[in-house]
Amino acid sequence: MLDQFINVSNVTYQYKSEKGSIEVLNKLDFEVGEGGFTAIVGPSGCGKSTLSKLISGLLTPSDGEIFLQGEKVTSPRANVGMAFQNPVMLEWRTVINNVTLPLEIVSPSMKAKEKEDRARYLLALVGLEGFENKRPSELSGGMRQRVSLCRALVHQPEVLILDEPFAALDAFTREDLWQVMHKLKEKEPFTGILITHDLRESIFLADEVIVLSNRPASVQYLLKVNLAIERTIDNLFTPKAIEMLNILREQIRIAQKR
Ligand SMILES: Nc1ncnc2c1ncn2[C@@H]1O[C@H](COP(=O)(O)OP(=O)(O)O)[C@@H](O)[C@H]1O
Ligand SMILES: [Mg+2]
Repeated sequence: MLDQFINVSNVTYQYKSEKGSIEVLNKLDFEVGEGGFTAIVGPSGCGKSTLSKLISGLLTPSDGEIFLQGEKVTSPRANVGMAFQNPVMLEWRTVINNVTLPLEIVSPSMKAKEKEDRARYLLALVGLEGFENKRPSELSGGMRQRVSLCRALVHQPEVLILDEPFAALDAFTREDLWQVMHKLKEKEPFTGILITHDLRESIFLADEVIVLSNRPASVQYLLKVNLAIERTIDNLFTPKAIEMLNILREQIRIAQKR
């Protein structure tokens, strides 16, 4: 077991333009152990999406380093899967062929039948059996996000990065997707980072919650989630859960004032 599967080491990031530079992250430092699932919460605009792009190699730190499984991240990597708030789907492709897309890039020699079997398996796992041949526009928002999760996991990435994937969904759909996430984590193990502004979501899904300070963000607070292993929505209303939510709410309040 690697206890530094994802290692964000003293990372500072500035966006630079002709008008000057804006510091978004300042000496951000944390790690996620193998199989861990860490939620990142923090004030709007503090740099969460910037962090997700840095970990996935789409941006490079101005200072500091990021390691995945001990290897320094310098460009996007095949062993990372990603999903965002508004999944971009290719409308001219069916659902199943949107899911197989990463395999075409990462495993070009894999047989078409194998790719489709893998996609079919994941689609069934998230409750989309029978929707394989629909077009993305025929799906609801919740269904699109399910497809997006399948696409993020289809090539069996070791690392999964989710940037507010459920933020645009209504509360009931969101809770359904939380259950789907638990199922995926069990059947398709990954080490993950979940960026969210939903505190209940953070403690329901993750085993650690990091609260970022206001911009330029650094780690302000780390909460270890110790809900019962069997996480049910009912568990979110126990005194233990409410206590954790109160701590996080207070930390967000502090972060916003800074
Ligand atoms: N490409 C960019 N160029 C310049 N500034 C940016 C760019 N992307 C984001 N920012 C700024 O960086 C800050 C952090 O953005 P972001 O990481 O998207 O925050 P969050 O996801 O926490 O809301 C914001 O102030 C935003 O305006
Ligand atoms: Mg964001």
